[in-house]
Amino acid sequence: MSPAEARSSAPGKVILFGEHAVVYGRPAIAVPVTQVKATAVVKAAPRGSGLTLIASDLKKQIALATAPEDEPLAAAARLTLAHLKAHEPDATVTIRSTIPIASGLGSGAAVTTALVRALGGFLGHKLPPAEVSRLVFEVEKIHHGTPSGIDNTVVAYGKPVYFVRERAIERLKVGCPFTLLIGDSGIPSPTGKVVARVRRAWQREPAHYDALFDRIGDIADEARQAIEDGDVDALGPLMDENHELLIELGVSSSQLDDLVDAARLAGALGAKLSGAGQGGNVIALVEDDCMSDVETALMETGAVRVICTKVAAAD
Ligand code: PMV
Repeated sequence: MSPAEARSSAPGKVILFGEHAVVYGRPAIAVPVTQVKATAVVKAAPRGSGLTLIASDLKKQIALATAPEDEPLAAAARLTLAHLKAHEPDATVTIRSTIPIASGLGSGAAVTTALVRALGGFLGHKLPPAEVSRLVFEVEKIHHGTPSGIDNTVVAYGKPVYFVRERAIERLKVGCPFTLLIGDSGIPSPTGKVVARVRRAWQREPAHYDALFDRIGDIADEARQAIEDGDVDALGPLMDENHELLIELGVSSSQLDDLVDAARLAGALGAKLSGAGQGGNVIALVEDDCMSDVETALMETGAVRVICTKVAAAD
């Protein structure tokens, strides 16, 4: 018997190091952002009504029976039902999210994670993170073609991760907590398009781009060591260097560069764009004494919001 109601939520995320290079097998580091989240609530509906998905933030109301194959929310529900070998229940799923869309904060992965888990719960199954992550990865492919899998992994596990494509997840130990300010440029970041552009550039000049990916991967490894050792001071310069390499990859923009410069000038230990780039977010590593100056600098340079998140040991 299904419960009358099941609910689940999932955090946003930011990539600290290694975006883009992670698509090409290099390591990356990402952490959950619990200050924003997506929530799904599944409630029983009258017999014969089937499954309806309501996402008012996205202005969507979808009947599963008639939804197209590539509709991401419907695909998430279908994949979950197939995985659990369950029939379509008579129920309504209401999805809400406080995660800005297309900003590199993992909104798509979080919405799907919340939906998959809540629907599983409604059907009497507590899905483990590995299964949730695998289902969300399938939906991520609809969102942007060739995802590395980092978004679904960090969001489904809800823990800091050191991620290498197609390898078992490695949890990241955080030796000493540190604080990030996430500055949202307010400009949508079209992940699929930016990833496709980098791929075309790599195909034209593989040796050059492979060398950039290698260095980005080395930075992620150095950052992992620094995070595990609690050597926060070492992280700032690594963020700065990673940003320079992202500029060389062609995924930054003048707005993102201005935000990064403003954060550094206001006292951040380091700053970089985070996620696909072109728009979306920058992240700045801050200590308590410069936090409000960096926040002000980001807002005065055009950020539409600034989120403060602390990266700490997971358990
Ligand atoms: O979804 P975003 O903006 O955080 O970008 C994902 C990170 C990329 O490395 C650019 C793509 C990927 O699939 O890993």
